[in-house]
Amino acid sequence: AEPITIKSLSSATGIKTADIIKYLFKQGVMATINSAIDTEAAMEVALEYDIELEVREQQTAIDKLKEAFDKRERIDVRPRPPVATVLGHVDHGKTSLLDRIRKEDVAAHEAGGITQHIGAYRVTIEGSEGAEKTVVFLDTPGHEAFTSMRARGANMTDLVVLVVAADDGVMPQTIESINHAKAAGVPIIVALNKIDVPQATSDNIQKIYGQLAEHGLNPVEWGGETEVIKTSAEKGTGVTDLLEVLDYQAELLELTADFGGPAAGRVIEAEMQPGRGSVARVLVQSGQIKVGDFIVIGRAYGRVRDMTDDHGRQVLEAGPATPLEISGIDDLPDAGDGFYITTTLQAAEQAASQFREVERHQQLASKTKVTLDNFADQL
Ligand code: GTP
Ligand code: MG
Repeated sequence: AEPITIKSLSSATGIKTADIIKYLFKQGVMATINSAIDTEAAMEVALEYDIELEVREQQTAIDKLKEAFDKRERIDVRPRPPVATVLGHVDHGKTSLLDRIRKEDVAAHEAGGITQHIGAYRVTIEGSEGAEKTVVFLDTPGHEAFTSMRARGANMTDLVVLVVAADDGVMPQTIESINHAKAAGVPIIVALNKIDVPQATSDNIQKIYGQLAEHGLNPVEWGGETEVIKTSAEKGTGVTDLLEVLDYQAELLELTADFGGPAAGRVIEAEMQPGRGSVARVLVQSGQIKVGDFIVIGRAYGRVRDMTDDHGRQVLEAGPATPLEISGIDDLPDAGDGFYITTTLQAAEQAASQFREVERHQQLASKTKVTLDNFADQL
């Protein structure tokens, strides 16, 4: 939303800009009429003049799309596969474990091998009773992506698989990951990985259980609630168990999605690709997306030119819980940005340009922002 400036506060309240500047000056803040002030400061100034300020966020086209989407009539609500994010300390085996899990993927065998590394995978395995189980996995390179997704309030994950290496134990980024998962309020399943290494003695394992318990993840083996599955990405140990536990925990969540209507979802990451231009990796969370659809993704918009799935195959249409690569957009969106399908190209363009406008205002405001908290810094 647009920031409150001294000028806009003045025109909204009738308080002279000079008086506002004087008031702020007395508090030790140097401001000009174009300085942005935060809501609290604006309210305090207004209160000096017995004016109660009501601050409303201005709705942008993308806000309206979101609102319309949230209010839409549900067409085809059905159970959907869970989305699990793999988190953990660097080198503890997140990507290796995912590679191993993907080897169990029935669909991958049909496609003839796994080559793609796109950080988001839809894995379908034969369950123990012959039933197919599908899980969408998000890999985290380091974990910046997850942090930035969270910062945007984009909780795209239903479950967290916390990978802890048996030879290293709970490390700083393990703790950070636990905190991310707790903040997101999602269940955590621990994969105690590299169980094949000589250091994975029962003494060391007990020690790691202790570390986990210290951080609120009391293992089931100790009478706690947290499932700790011993895995080896190297040897393939425990992978089926891990998938079973994931499936069980996901069932408790009773996840559903609307498979009908125009799609909405979120960006996992985006990059420029030679010959394809801006490409966004997205997760479809609801509805259907088709080649040729008009789309707005954060600051980017366009018409979906082509879509590929996590096996690199071209797809013409996709529904919820599908990771996709999309081309045909004019710019790179950020991880965590939402996407919406619009009825016209103009609507997508308008939403994207308003997104950029808000972004520009925020950048300007952050440069000259005056808050009650940073009074002292400015003296
Ligand atoms: P970042 O993405 O850099 O954070 O690392 P990561 O967590 O994805 O770890 P990665 O899968 O890249 O594995 C790191 C190293 O550990 C590699 O050399 C793997 O071969 C090794 N490794 C992973 N899992 C196992 C395992 O179960 N057993 C053994 N012995 N080695 C493993
Ligand atoms: Mg990795």
